[in-house]
Amino acid sequence: MSAVRVAVVGGGVIGLSCAWQLARAGADVTLIEPDPAQGASRIAAGMLAPITEAHPTEPALLAAGRRAVDAWPAFAADLTSTGIDPGYRTTGTLVAGYSADDVAALDELAARLATLGLDVERLTGTACRRSEPALAPGVRGGLSVPGDHSVDNRALLRALWAALEVVGVHVVTDTVEAPLTLDADVMVLAAGAWTPRLTPTLAGLVRPVRGENVRLVAGRHTPVLTRTVRALVDGRGVYLVPRTTGELVVGATQDEVGFDRTVTAGGVHRLLTDARRVLPSIDEYALVETSAGLRPMSTDGAPLVGWVGGDTLVATGHGRNGILLAPLTAAIITHLVTGAGHTPDAAVAGAFAPDRFPAAAGTSRATGPGEADAAGVPRAAHRGGGR
Ligand code: GLY
Repeated sequence: MSAVRVAVVGGGVIGLSCAWQLARAGADVTLIEPDPAQGASRIAAGMLAPITEAHPTEPALLAAGRRAVDAWPAFAADLTSTGIDPGYRTTGTLVAGYSADDVAALDELAARLATLGLDVERLTGTACRRSEPALAPGVRGGLSVPGDHSVDNRALLRALWAALEVVGVHVVTDTVEAPLTLDADVMVLAAGAWTPRLTPTLAGLVRPVRGENVRLVAGRHTPVLTRTVRALVDGRGVYLVPRTTGELVVGATQDEVGFDRTVTAGGVHRLLTDARRVLPSIDEYALVETSAGLRPMSTDGAPLVGWVGGDTLVATGHGRNGILLAPLTAAIITHLVTGAGHTPDAAVAGAFAPDRFPAAAGTSRATGPGEADAAGVPRAAHRGGGR
């Protein structure tokens, strides 16, 4: 029996992860990506941070993020077998406050996270500096969040590309224009903020949100951080994500400016000013890159992962959490297309289902095991089943 033929549009972390897992499950996969170097996945900092990214109005996203964190050790280990280490770090996250108001906000955050049963420890300013001696002496208090991790997103992308080669995914570098006429049984549209341009069902549901960040590299004797530090500096959020290589990513702005990827002087100034309040040794770092990416933000903050009709699935709208949610998204898509792998948690798959939006619901399919369609026929069975 022939394998189901899947065209995945988009070579960011979501498209690559879906293509990899689909091919591992026996699908015949073609990945279409005209310009892999430009996407938000490459610009990202690589935080795997469901807890410190959590918003009180998004409990489903927090639950999904925690499931994704649990999936990361195996995902990273599988990728490491390609010979490329994705730089997965489980050293945790420290949240620091620099004014009385910042510390009061952290107290509130700690109380809220504790009521959700999350592992969060209040720290004095002295305790913050004991765990991260490079922090500025002005730190007044903080939180230790051991469950929020990180990955080197660029190493991750390299590892995913290598993994695609191992499993025989075909790569096409053509530009895809709507309407799509791809020679495949199933399409997975994973083009980030550009996905609504490929399917009218997503019109108005996903928009670009620009994030500027800067990349720095520590000198040999420069004091460095050992874990991700997020800080409130006079009410403004900033994060600093260190790598074992000496790289430090400082981010990020959040601007609603359409598809404009300009890196602004004001954005970079703001990031460096706030980061310097947190980590004074930043003055000794080499500034190696300023960049801007476009987060694909959905109208309710949760991704859209699933059928949008016909033979088309979407995997987009991951907002600030694309790197984190990649393993979970790939598992859901793979299960919907091939029936393979673990059945995705119904609550997570439901929270991500595009048909929660009436505009995307018209022709969407059922999401049961083997991605049975409305008639109960597994998708792969339309072509005689998987391998
Ligand atoms: N995940 C952090 C950001 O989007 O800036």
